[in-house]
Amino acid sequence: MNKYQNVFIFDHPLIRHKVSILRDVKTGMKEFRELIEEITTLMAYESMRDVEMIPVQVETPLETTVQYRIPEQSVVIVPILRAGLGMVNGIHTLFPTARVGHIGMYRDEETFQPKEYYCKLPDGIAEKTVFLVDPMLATGGSACDALNALKKRGCKKIKFMAIIGAPEGVEKVAKEHPDVPIYVSTLDRGLNENAYILPGLGDAGDRLFGTK
Ligand code: PRP
Ligand code: URA
Repeated sequence: MNKYQNVFIFDHPLIRHKVSILRDVKTGMKEFRELIEEITTLMAYESMRDVEMIPVQVETPLETTVQYRIPEQSVVIVPILRAGLGMVNGIHTLFPTARVGHIGMYRDEETFQPKEYYCKLPDGIAEKTVFLVDPMLATGGSACDALNALKKRGCKKIKFMAIIGAPEGVEKVAKEHPDVPIYVSTLDRGLNENAYILPGLGDAGDRLFGTK
């Protein structure tokens, strides 16, 4: 099913188990937030497999040895507001020194086109490995605009992580940004007439923050 080399879909039983609870309309805000974090951590473990490492000298109680570490300042997390905020702690759990930038976007309810309303990124982001995160990849408009915003600021190493993807959105991002690895825990069936993902989980921002 996956015809794009830059698209990675997870089929680990733990992720599938947690996504099934996340989708459930009976899952409340607290559990929803915890699950988003846990799934992000599981995805981040795998998607950090190829991050830059540098040699460091370490003194053990017995001798000096050369070991490898991820440079503390080399990773930046950029959530797409609002719902992407729910994924930040999931990466910080694994890599607490990652700095955080924010890109604010909302979808126009009639055209489904994304509108950027905020962008604040850490200095020097162009040289970092950037994890752009958003739980929902629906039409792909928000992800593509956010990726363009990052590239305009010189970012070259970007990874995009979404919890649920629709085929339409995955295809759009994969085609428009073939240099960006796209990690999606689950590929869903498609979009409804309001550009919501089916079966999906509803509105991720509302479920995370209790706004509806
Ligand atoms: C949701 C979601 C993505 C976007 C995905 O945000 O978190 O950012 O929609 O849709 P797309 O792929 O069709 O662009 P929304 O615009 O509802 O804003 P919110 O996070 O503030 O609720
Ligand atoms: N945004 C969401 O939060 N959910 C969808 O299904 C699509 C866009």
